[in-house]
Amino acid sequence: MPDTLPAKRAGEAPPPESSELFQAVGGEPGLRAIIDHFVDRLFEDVMIGYLFRAADRSRVKAKEYEFAARQLGAPITYSGRPIPDAHRAHRITGGQFMRRLQILKETLLTFRVPANVSEPWLAHTLSLQSEITNNALDECDPSHTNRARSTPG
Ligand code: HEM
Repeated sequence: MPDTLPAKRAGEAPPPESSELFQAVGGEPGLRAIIDHFVDRLFEDVMIGYLFRAADRSRVKAKEYEFAARQLGAPITYSGRPIPDAHRAHRITGGQFMRRLQILKETLLTFRVPANVSEPWLAHTLSLQSEITNNALDECDPSHTNRARSTPG
């Protein structure tokens, strides 16, 4: 490898030529509008909104923006907590993970985000599932079940 190409380190800004996806959503103003709408939907959602009741909405917007921008190749650094640390205490189930994914899909459709951006974004989100929830995507947390127990006899 030529020594003109420095090794990539965690948290390091990517080279500007890799920010095409970030530019495709309108750069900072475009992505901030998408994330603001997305986070508002998360906080107000009937299924998962309760998880955010003690969270600081403007902080979540700011950190989700950085995380998404970085992932789309913007030359910025994510300054939030590591993803597993931010979510561990919430004991997020597979179904809750899927609900956030659905809200993200709907948000990207609302903002007419092109498929060459939305597909890798959604795939990247799915790839983080094991850092956020311990059970499979289509499973519920067994300790949260409200199914009636079958009693013998
Ligand atoms: C790949 C998927 C996800 C990503 C990229 C993501 C990203 C983030 C980021 C960047 C933060 C802010 C961290 C900080 O404050 O430093 C955050 C916070 C949070 N996220 Fe997620 N998240 C994901 C999935 C989920 C899911 C599935 C849920 C629940 C259904 C969820 C619920 C929360 C909550 C409740 C907070 C506030 C944490 C707190 O302040 O205690 N997240 N998330």
